[in-house]
Amino acid sequence: MLEAKNVCLEIDAPPGSEEESLHLLREVSFTTPQGHLMAIVGPSGCGKTTLLKVIAGISEQTEGALKWEMRDLKEEEDLHPGELGYVPQFSVAHDLLTVDECVAASMSLRTQLPGTDEFEPKLENILAITGLTELADRRVKVLSGGQKRRLGLALELVTNPCLLLCDEVTSGLDPKSEREITDLLRVLSRENPRRVVINVTHSLASLEAFDSVLVMYQGRLVYHGPPKLLTHYFTVDHPEEVYLRLTQRDAQAWHESWQKKRDYYEQMLIEASATPSLELKSEDETQGVKHEDIAPEELPSLFSQVLVLLRRRWTIFRRDSGQVWLHIAMLIGFPLLVVIFALDGIKPLRQLNQRQETDIVYEMQRQAQHQVEQLQAGGLVSGLIMLQVVLVTLMASNNAAREIAGERLILEREKLGGLSTLAYVISKVLFLGVFVLAQSLWMGIFVDMVTGGLPGDLVIKLALLILASASMTSVCLGISALCRTPEKATILSIYLVGFQLPLSGAVLTLPDWLEGAVNPFIAAFWSWSGSLRSMGDTAFYDAVKQVTDTTLVSPELAAFVLLAHIIVGLSMTYVGTQGSQWE
Ligand SMILES: Nc1ncnc2c1ncn2[C@@H]1O[C@H](COP(=O)(O)OP(=O)(O)OP(=O)(O)O)[C@@H](O)[C@H]1O
Ligand SMILES: [Mg+2]
Repeated sequence: MLEAKNVCLEIDAPPGSEEESLHLLREVSFTTPQGHLMAIVGPSGCGKTTLLKVIAGISEQTEGALKWEMRDLKEEEDLHPGELGYVPQFSVAHDLLTVDECVAASMSLRTQLPGTDEFEPKLENILAITGLTELADRRVKVLSGGQKRRLGLALELVTNPCLLLCDEVTSGLDPKSEREITDLLRVLSRENPRRVVINVTHSLASLEAFDSVLVMYQGRLVYHGPPKLLTHYFTVDHPEEVYLRLTQRDAQAWHESWQKKRDYYEQMLIEASATPSLELKSEDETQGVKHEDIAPEELPSLFSQVLVLLRRRWTIFRRDSGQVWLHIAMLIGFPLLVVIFALDGIKPLRQLNQRQETDIVYEMQRQAQHQVEQLQAGGLVSGLIMLQVVLVTLMASNNAAREIAGERLILEREKLGGLSTLAYVISKVLFLGVFVLAQSLWMGIFVDMVTGGLPGDLVIKLALLILASASMTSVCLGISALCRTPEKATILSIYLVGFQLPLSGAVLTLPDWLEGAVNPFIAAFWSWSGSLRSMGDTAFYDAVKQVTDTTLVSPELAAFVLLAHIIVGLSMTYVGTQGSQWE
């Protein structure tokens, strides 16, 4: 039994409005017996989705109580993820996956069925009852609005939820499909004796399939009773006239008159649910639907969730041809860009190296010319290292900026379904880790090969390049997890990369007081500076010192600070992923 007692939801009013707070829900009270299918109806903006979110535990009521089988969902234990099914109003699947891949992934993330004989039959059964069998190979991107809604429902049927909340799964369907899905919801409500199914709908024309109808108006509950008494209660001829009728009185007045009659109507619902006449009798109605056990599905292990997420992410990446080409272009183009800048300078670089080792007398005689060449070589080495670092961090920000923000609503739904935040973050780290290694190793090795070997220890330079990329990747991933939209995350990440070069001290030396305050946050500074210091025992180091006044740090210190960046970035990612961002 689901029971709401005086549920209120009050939020701070947006800046500039006259009121101090907004009452999205006011004193909502109702009782829904087990094995029951309820419709929530009401004009747009009346609080239907808000009520569903409060029941699902996505938003917490500011007053009142919600009870599931006498268990207070706020004070006591929440519903187990396998006990709750929530189909949101928006599409919650990745555009580039096919319908069956989405359902299979949902089943793999929420149950222990993968690898068992039950997996395939259950998958096929879910596709069959939601009418998706023929669309199984079709990508989500090309599905119609109604088909996406069926998919949203299919994703929730992978477990055996005893509370199934559907936000407009029947909207946007033709009357026949609407009827089929409503019948399916009805069958589902009977299939498990503990189950309650709630569907938000706009359609007032086909309410007879529901056991009860709950009418919301301006955040208030104004009716909850049998559908056949709806017209009688609102004194209208047809259910479609109810919305117009509602506008004729103020919401508080409707609410007050409902309070007086509530007990009578709800008693009727409870009695009706106890009589066998409402129970499912027709065999046709159960056709295709396997009767499931009552126990909620056990969640899979963290390791299994990581594997499913990684496999799914890789499939999505492979299919996103725009991203694949962009990655290939950057992987090839960026190291080439560095090499082009090096072409003219490679000769003096090599000469400087030789002269230092073999012809020191000759060099003493031509000190003035040497000075110029030293300046050139210093500028070139410093510039090449910085260019590599900046381009690697640019690729890193492109990898990570949209990674979480771009699939936020899918993440929220999956978290509600039992996805572990840690498994999600680990899967992102592993997926992006491959890009970090590939992009920085290729950049470092390619440039080193073509220029005939930049001065300094190659291993240290590669390690610092990898760390710079990992640092930018994890901070941008953190931004992506904390930002509300992918656009915001992208802009912030671009700014972060944009400031790397001017604030690194490689081009212009910052004033001392600013250098100390800014450097700790600039990954490029640490990678560049540590790489240059690794040349400490070559002539290039002196040359570099001539072109920069910025204090250079040891590779060890640079690695340490970059590791600290990575830890901060990953902590931001974890905290951001953990937080709820449904809007
Ligand atoms: N976080 C929020 N901040 C401010 N207002 C909000 C917030 N969430 C919802 N609202 C407001 O609360 C009201 C109810 O929203 P809700 O989404 O529940 O409506 P609805 O009945 O589901 O509408 P629809 O039928 O269009 O989906 C709306 O006026 C909406 O603008
Ligand atoms: Mg809504």
